[in-house]
Amino acid sequence: TSAQIGVTGLAVMGRNLARNFARNGYTVAVHNRTVSRTKALVEEFGHEGDFVAAETAEEFVAALERPRRLVVMVKAGEPTDAVIEEFAPLLEPGDMIIDGGNAHFADTRRRERELRERGIHFVGTGISGGEEGALHGPSIMPGGSKESYDSLGPMLEKISAKAADGAPCVTHVGPDGAGHFVKMVHNGIEYADMQLIGEAYQLLRDVAGYEPAQIADIFRTWNTGRLDSYLIEITAEVLSHVDEATGKPFVDVVVDQAEQKGTGRWTVQIALDLGVPVSGIAEAVFARSLSGHAELRAASRDLAGPKPTPLGESEAAAFADRVEQALYASKIVSYTQGFHEIAAGSEEYGWDIDLGAVSSIWRGGCIIRAAFLDRIRAAYDARGDLPSLLSDETFAREIADAQDDWREVLVAATRQGVPTPGFAAALAYYDALRAPRLPAALTQGQRDFFGAHTYRRVDREGSFHTLWGGNRAEVSA
Ligand code: 6PG
Repeated sequence: TSAQIGVTGLAVMGRNLARNFARNGYTVAVHNRTVSRTKALVEEFGHEGDFVAAETAEEFVAALERPRRLVVMVKAGEPTDAVIEEFAPLLEPGDMIIDGGNAHFADTRRRERELRERGIHFVGTGISGGEEGALHGPSIMPGGSKESYDSLGPMLEKISAKAADGAPCVTHVGPDGAGHFVKMVHNGIEYADMQLIGEAYQLLRDVAGYEPAQIADIFRTWNTGRLDSYLIEITAEVLSHVDEATGKPFVDVVVDQAEQKGTGRWTVQIALDLGVPVSGIAEAVFARSLSGHAELRAASRDLAGPKPTPLGESEAAAFADRVEQALYASKIVSYTQGFHEIAAGSEEYGWDIDLGAVSSIWRGGCIIRAAFLDRIRAAYDARGDLPSLLSDETFAREIADAQDDWREVLVAATRQGVPTPGFAAALAYYDALRAPRLPAALTQGQRDFFGAHTYRRVDREGSFHTLWGGNRAEVSA
């Protein structure tokens, strides 16, 4: 038997991905360091399709038709390097190693370069959608060579999620690390979306005075409109869930300290390197870290500040509508920032990423899938060189319509002492972009004052310095 694809690393993501390939008619070689896992997969799911169980690396490689397509589904970092080192010597020129983990794109670039020298295609690919997505159709973001995509693309298109219009949620994102870069930003946006939803929830609870079950209903209603998305949908599910042991809302019995595995943090770290202001995503990452500082929070509990006083019933409903506007406007801003980062990465690394295609493949399968992404796709399709999503007419108009409510929500949050770093950062970004003048001019003056760092003038070319400690004459620098 020769398998068209192989999957090594059969934890839940790898196992479900292997099953997805098999269910789509491919013969799949499966391999795991602990052989019992391989056996369990074939025993439990063997009826779903054609699997070839391989006990050793040699058997696994021998089971694959050429050029070999070998999918690695192990932990990002050293385990990935170890698996590559185990298999690369067994492969031949033209074969492909596909890394479907959440690798850092810089690692992917390095691995791609090293393996290219050995004649092997290395395809770092983002895969989003969790366990269910891996099984039923994820959103797939492959990087690597064009040649590897010619061989692999049709298979990925088959197992991927399909958008509402039937388009497969996979595209060749770009060379080397482009796929993992885009997956990283996907996760940064995921963090921002989750933070904004969290802030909306907190406002509905503390300012509007709703109970979690009522808030779940509000999210359900929002999910029928422009906010229609997977994350809004599951938010309603989580909020309406009641803890069996205590009878309390589930959300009230969970420790309020958010964890993270690192992709959101990377998005911000790389944005800092690229000089891209992803303030909304950064606030989302910082909000998670702040929540985890239990001792610091305990030591700060008695600090002065208002206690929210919930609104009456009729006002509460109107406030909820405003929160929807604030959430939607802030969401536009965080996607604007995320796409800016992708554009900047593409520019820096020469990837030539098609932003419309990226929004298109996020329409289904992934964690941030949403009706909204179809509108982003439309915006980039209408104008490929759109300088920013905010310059799209439709989004600009929607923000214009939302902004009074957005500002009102932030006024209420500030007055009542409800932290809304995501909403606030998004509005500050929006206002800063539209400002005719920024205090950056003053910053330049200060820098020139204390360090002769020089400045440019609005009315003349060149760099200048003022002799601050002397007669304050201006000199050309
Ligand atoms: C996905 C998810 C996935 C990851 C989450 C959780 O696209 O399917 O992004 O890759 O499980 O990002 O990450 P944190 O543990 O950092 O929240």
